[in-house]
Amino acid sequence: MTSEILQQARDYENKNADSITKEERPSFHVTPPIGWMNDPNGFSVYKGEYHLFFQYHPYSIKWGPMHWGHYKTKDFIRWERLPVAIAPDSDFDIDGCFSGSAVELSDGRQMLMYTGVYPEMLENGTKKTVQAQCVAFGDGINYEKSKLNPILTEKDLPEWGSKWDFRDPKIWKKDKDLYAVIGTRTTDGSGAILLYKAAEDAPEKWTLVSTVDRSNNEYGKMWECPDLFMLDGKWVLITSPQNMVAKGLEYHNGHDVICITGNFDYETGKFTRENVMPVEGGIDFYAPQTLLTPDGRRIMIAWMQAWDSSKFVPKGQKWFGMFTIPRELTIKNGCLIQNPVREIENYRCNKVSYKNIDIKEEVKLPGVAGRIIDLTATVYFDKKEASGKFVIKFAQNEDFYSSITYDPADNLLTLDRTYSGFPHYIVHSRTIEVKRNEYNSLKLRILLDRNSVELFVNDGEKAMSAALYTPLDADSITFESKGNVKLDIEKYDLKF
Ligand code: FRU
Repeated sequence: MTSEILQQARDYENKNADSITKEERPSFHVTPPIGWMNDPNGFSVYKGEYHLFFQYHPYSIKWGPMHWGHYKTKDFIRWERLPVAIAPDSDFDIDGCFSGSAVELSDGRQMLMYTGVYPEMLENGTKKTVQAQCVAFGDGINYEKSKLNPILTEKDLPEWGSKWDFRDPKIWKKDKDLYAVIGTRTTDGSGAILLYKAAEDAPEKWTLVSTVDRSNNEYGKMWECPDLFMLDGKWVLITSPQNMVAKGLEYHNGHDVICITGNFDYETGKFTRENVMPVEGGIDFYAPQTLLTPDGRRIMIAWMQAWDSSKFVPKGQKWFGMFTIPRELTIKNGCLIQNPVREIENYRCNKVSYKNIDIKEEVKLPGVAGRIIDLTATVYFDKKEASGKFVIKFAQNEDFYSSITYDPADNLLTLDRTYSGFPHYIVHSRTIEVKRNEYNSLKLRILLDRNSVELFVNDGEKAMSAALYTPLDADSITFESKGNVKLDIEKYDLKF
């Protein structure tokens, strides 16, 4: 049954989504039909198509009572809008349907598992919101919430867990069982990831298996949006810690995303760590979620936004929040590698290429410009002579530009949007360490899509993303080097 609150959201979306023209939003990155969007949710395969839900407040460009918006796609690039899936319309989620995930059951139903948020009256007369896990079942468009909701509550937490912070279930299926990892906060104030299990034929009856891992106040506070999966023979736990404190060039302050590799044992539910690393080096990246495609690819999508700057919405914009391009993940030499889904290559056109050109003073290369492009620059540094900085400026006109700068003397790569025209005092620049490859070269793949830049370095060893709100007529690209470099360029427009 469709509640009044859900129907209202669906009607509102239908009425307003078309008030945003195609040119007012990115062309292949997911944005909300109207209003506010944060985390990707329920990124999964259902009946042979990829479904993507998201934290959604259609009524304004600010975070508000969370609904789940809904898209589906066949190729991760062109998305079809579906009606709002669930709304905060029940006792157990009246303050919001927070993040969660989805799975296809063997009986043909699509199951959603999400965090229901509802108020509890404290003894001192004030209200505080409780978080518990809920489920809903549907056909890929309409969902019925379970009468047994909430199906995981404080009584299912270890005694040190917190009902105020118990959220973001990521569910998967193994043989005849369902598993879910869920974040909570321990008595030391920092995050932990719990593992729960249910039989597939009793998907409302879950039990606690183990604690998968915990922060111990080393990697930020509350751990949000966990995801646990096997990749290239390693187990990978990705989570988004709140309130991290910067460490060297690896981790930045605030909400960050970490990847922990190791081993996981289904019998005991124990996870043993091998390596901890940041997932991204850019400015705007949070709350990623992954799915496994039928052809065996692990694909990750994330909110291309930082919480701390999310109140600054460009003037006049009727949507806020976008997702990264879905990225194929692999593990190489123990490190997480990410590259744009290969399907984007089907939309390439107007190829322009240059080989082995000398770069010195700032130059434009004929045919190399645009704001919806896929560009790869391979930079060969002189082996004998120490080279000076190499700079690519993009989204550029007389007033504005953003830049990617590599300093070969100290192996530092900087993404900077200080001069992108965004009139707020927020983080505009990040620097990471990047080594040149065996040929003393550096490969920079840059995806631009009107309102964003995503950079993939050395075939995905590092990635950096940032939202960009530069006027669209700023579409020049220039190259400059203070040393001896040779440059190869391959550039495509992307057409949809
Ligand atoms: C992460 C998050 C989740 C929560 C959701 C609420 O960005 O804080 O932990 O479920 O957003 O919108």
